[in-house]
Amino acid sequence: MLIVIEGLDGAGLSTQATLLAEYLRGKNKKVLLTKEPTSLPIGKLIKSILSRNQEVSLLALQLLFAADRAEHLEKEIEPALRTNHIVISDRYILSSLAFGSVDNDLEFLKQINSRFRRPDLTVIIDTPPKVCLERINRARDNIELFEEGQRLEKVRKQFLALKNYFDNTFIVAGDRAKDEVSKDIREVVESIIKG
Ligand SMILES: Nc1ncnc2c1ncn2[C@@H]1O[C@H](COP(=O)(O)OP(=O)(O)OP(=O)(O)O)[C@@H](O)[C@H]1O
Ligand SMILES: [Mg+2]
Repeated sequence: MLIVIEGLDGAGLSTQATLLAEYLRGKNKKVLLTKEPTSLPIGKLIKSILSRNQEVSLLALQLLFAADRAEHLEKEIEPALRTNHIVISDRYILSSLAFGSVDNDLEFLKQINSRFRRPDLTVIIDTPPKVCLERINRARDNIELFEEGQRLEKVRKQFLALKNYFDNTFIVAGDRAKDEVSKDIREVVESIIKG
């Protein structure tokens, strides 16, 4: 089972992905907690571009995200699924579609991601950009490419508009205490595991 956690930067994705992994491990499930961009070579290049150390065209960046995803699937996700792990990915295809479609054609982004495994369950953590930016400013001293209020508002709308793109997609309000958010996510995951 591939579970994907999506949303804006600072929405609480890594926090919630970690809490979900702990919860499932506590229930004796084998879990791979993983994220995009990856720490594989193409993922490292993407991170360097996002922190503004290197520049590439916006189209090239989207192709890199897709290339990183191909690597992620082959080297990390698929092997874990074959050994019966529940895979939790902190970001996946919807992040490419939601962030990328502000500057690129959405249909093209869908095409370059169309061969990849579809998630079994997607949780979009919906947190207002203002709250995301406050959290980011508190947590780190560098602001990445794309982390700007008006842009994030557009990305947020894209996420919500994409809620029917994959089956089993749930929107969870992120502007609440961490344990309230995680309780909702656990309930959604339990309903799909049982269902
Ligand atoms: N529900 C919450 N309430 C208050 N603070 C939170 C909440 N969830 C996460 N945070 C804090 O906000 C910051 C960002 O959280 P987190 O790293 O989980 O976000 P993210 O969505 O993974 O963002 P990033 O884009 O940095 O990867 C962290 O300092 C985290 O402790
Ligand atoms: Mg994170």
